[in-house]
Amino acid sequence: MVDTPAENVKLIVDGKTFELPVITGTEKEKAIDISNLRKDTGYITLDNGYANTGSCKSAITFLDGEVGILRYRGIPIEQIAENSTFLETSYLLIYGDLPTKTQLTNFSKSFTKHAAIHKDMEKFFEGYPATGHPMGILSAMVVSLGAYYPELIKPEPSKEEIDLIAVELLAKVRTICAHSYKKSIGKPLVGPRDDLQYIPNFLHMMFSTKTKDYKIVPEMVDALQTVLILHADHEQNCSTSTVRMVGSSWANLFASVSAGICALWGPLHGGANQEVIEMLEVIQKDGGNIQKYINKAKDSNDNYRLMGFGHRVYKNYDPRAKIIKKRAHDLLKKLGIKDPLLDLAVTLEDAVLKDDYFQQRKLYPNVDFYSGIIYRAIGIPTKMFPAMFAIGRMPGWIANWKEMKESSETRIGRPRQIYTGRLTRDYVPMNNR
Ligand code: CMC
Repeated sequence: MVDTPAENVKLIVDGKTFELPVITGTEKEKAIDISNLRKDTGYITLDNGYANTGSCKSAITFLDGEVGILRYRGIPIEQIAENSTFLETSYLLIYGDLPTKTQLTNFSKSFTKHAAIHKDMEKFFEGYPATGHPMGILSAMVVSLGAYYPELIKPEPSKEEIDLIAVELLAKVRTICAHSYKKSIGKPLVGPRDDLQYIPNFLHMMFSTKTKDYKIVPEMVDALQTVLILHADHEQNCSTSTVRMVGSSWANLFASVSAGICALWGPLHGGANQEVIEMLEVIQKDGGNIQKYINKAKDSNDNYRLMGFGHRVYKNYDPRAKIIKKRAHDLLKKLGIKDPLLDLAVTLEDAVLKDDYFQQRKLYPNVDFYSGIIYRAIGIPTKMFPAMFAIGRMPGWIANWKEMKESSETRIGRPRQIYTGRLTRDYVPMNNR
């Protein structure tokens, strides 16, 4: 519940005083409501990268980056990561509460029913080159899914129709990812099995062949479960805001999520997990000279950044990174794997945390720093890491789109700008017609 405005702040513009309402969230976060600012004063606000702008009220995820708190529907991420499954977490995010046993069984059954993609869609993979990035393929395939459900592509789907699209997206995203991997290695696609749960089914489609079933390793399933849970939502990040923005024009959920996948692909967002491993490999090949790369990242004349460090909202250790780091160590130990990149990552983190530049800017490892070590141990290729993030973020995108759709306050997303271009001038014919 959000409090009704209890207080106002005063703003003096051109000598005149205006009162702006203060909105307080359940965790006592405060916002100045500027909805009428332009109408009342003629001014707009300018906020580069929306760092101080609340775009909506939301009851899905709470995070306090100053202290490193993250909660889904009020439940601390540490408790969810320890006790829940990805499917249960998805239900929690989308519907607001943990499911009963019956609700979860029905939810899970619907994934089995919707796991396979249409035979015609499988042919799409023949058209992509083996070098195609899985995120480009995933985004195109997700928006194309809508073509198979013309009856669902409408501005105002019913509650039941939204539920159906949600299951379609959650079930098929892992099938599409696994198929794009098979395509990239030039092997035949392997379809889902009815007897396997969400994550084992994904691993089966990734690693089984037409003649040999992949042996599921429970430790890998557990680790992947944790990673997907930790990625499941993160309030108004770049991709989720994109999903809401696209959906605010009444575009359908397939189209909105497809746009979210493209936003996630960027190296500053979900593409960072791929970049982290590639960065560590470069440092390793360069003789493990960590200081050289730290200095490069600190050089204001160099755009280079240490990938996997820093966050717009966390000014403390990212709670997700803490859990993933431990998970990575545990998994490698259980599987008896020695990965030199994990040792390098730990050494790099130690050096960064001691460095003044990073301390002053409160730059800590984020969720993407250690997730790649887990993916590598499972055998997932580096190029697929951002797609793994997309599988994990799917419930968060759906929950946010649904919440936006159900809110009576939603308006089409349409920011303003401050124009800095040329003043009016006449058209001078250049004889180009
Ligand atoms: N390496 C070196 N310097 C950095 C880094 C980094 N990874 N991140 C931020 N800085 C510096 C930046 O140069 C700036 O310095 P100065 O004040 O001297 O100009 C200062 O720290 C503040 O950075 P910013 O770019 O204004 O911060 P932001 O909030 O706009 O960007 C970020 C956040 C995550 C894009 C950024 O920290 C970054 O590029 N990190 C590396 C990419 C990465 O790991 N992304 C994954 C984020 S977690 C997954 C997700 O939720 O998307």
